[in-house]
Amino acid sequence: MEETRWKEKNQYLGLTEDGRRVRLLDQSQLPNREVWLELEEPEELAEAIRTLRVRGAPAIGVFAAYALYVLARRLADRAPVEAAFRTRLREWAAGLAATRPTAVNLRWALERMLARADRTAGPPEQIVQVLERECRAIHREDGEMCRRIAEHGLTLVGEGDGILTHCNAGALAASRYGTALGPILLGQERGKKLRVFADETRPLLQGGRLTAWELARAGVEVTLICDNMASMVMKNGWVQACFVGCDRVAANGDTANKIGTSGVAILAKHYGIPVYVLGPTSTIDMACPDGDHIPIEERDGEEIKTMWYEKPMALPEVKCYNPAFDVTDHELIAGIVTEKGICRPPYTKSLKALFDDKK
Ligand code: MRU
Repeated sequence: MEETRWKEKNQYLGLTEDGRRVRLLDQSQLPNREVWLELEEPEELAEAIRTLRVRGAPAIGVFAAYALYVLARRLADRAPVEAAFRTRLREWAAGLAATRPTAVNLRWALERMLARADRTAGPPEQIVQVLERECRAIHREDGEMCRRIAEHGLTLVGEGDGILTHCNAGALAASRYGTALGPILLGQERGKKLRVFADETRPLLQGGRLTAWELARAGVEVTLICDNMASMVMKNGWVQACFVGCDRVAANGDTANKIGTSGVAILAKHYGIPVYVLGPTSTIDMACPDGDHIPIEERDGEEIKTMWYEKPMALPEVKCYNPAFDVTDHELIAGIVTEKGICRPPYTKSLKALFDDKK
């Protein structure tokens, strides 16, 4: 019963009933307005990722897969020549992949869609049918992975524990339970109460706008703090573990996640608090040897200066540096929780074992 409730409620992304548009809750307008969008044009689909209407590594992968299918379907309606159809698919996939560079799930999902198309010999209408099954499968599997991550993550915490989280790695950012928020939401369903401290997450406030929104709606005890209060909360003894999501995990365990995550991990080390990274295996990039090889997105400085203020909070001539992600060194991470289980150091071995395991 509870299970069904989550399945239905935590669905912020999908296809419209006729399958011709991508439907999503516009995250850029939360928590004040719940606006659902239906998108079908190449530019509006790419814009939705760029401007964070849809965000979170697994969610942008799922969204991009749906987007590619919607575009393919529209084109197939116009009875194109097969070779031209396949070329156009590749161009759209490249355009979508270029919207955000750090989260590897985006590229992963698009490559999976293209590979499926490549393996399908046949006219565009047939390829479109296969692509529809593939994007729905990507979404369904993401939900299943999140559920398993939640199960594994829940074993790491006890009744009443305080969890500090950064950014938003909940159902908005992935499917169903999300990743870092999964154990908390599953615990809530099962009556295992956890207390959450949500970093507001400057500059785009995903913690305040999204994590606090999701957890409050689920009835979880959540306390919003400014990013610079994390040390105080840890020092007070209120935090027993940090749960964070990930945008890309390198083969040695170095992890890119929302800017500020590495600072949380450094503080946690000082206070002896374990930091767990939670994410599906689609976020692990074994071709990337370490964090130095992860491309870090840099965003417009106006997000810092003007976005949340009635009047600009710095002079126009003041320069800003606005990296969207940072890399947490693998030595600061106590465990990486995936759908296949919890990886422990040394990550070069434990992460590799995930992919050697053909089960
Ligand atoms: O810029 P964002 O909001 O897309 O960044 C999101 C994060 O950093 C998340 O923690 C990460 O993608 C994991 S989401 C399950």
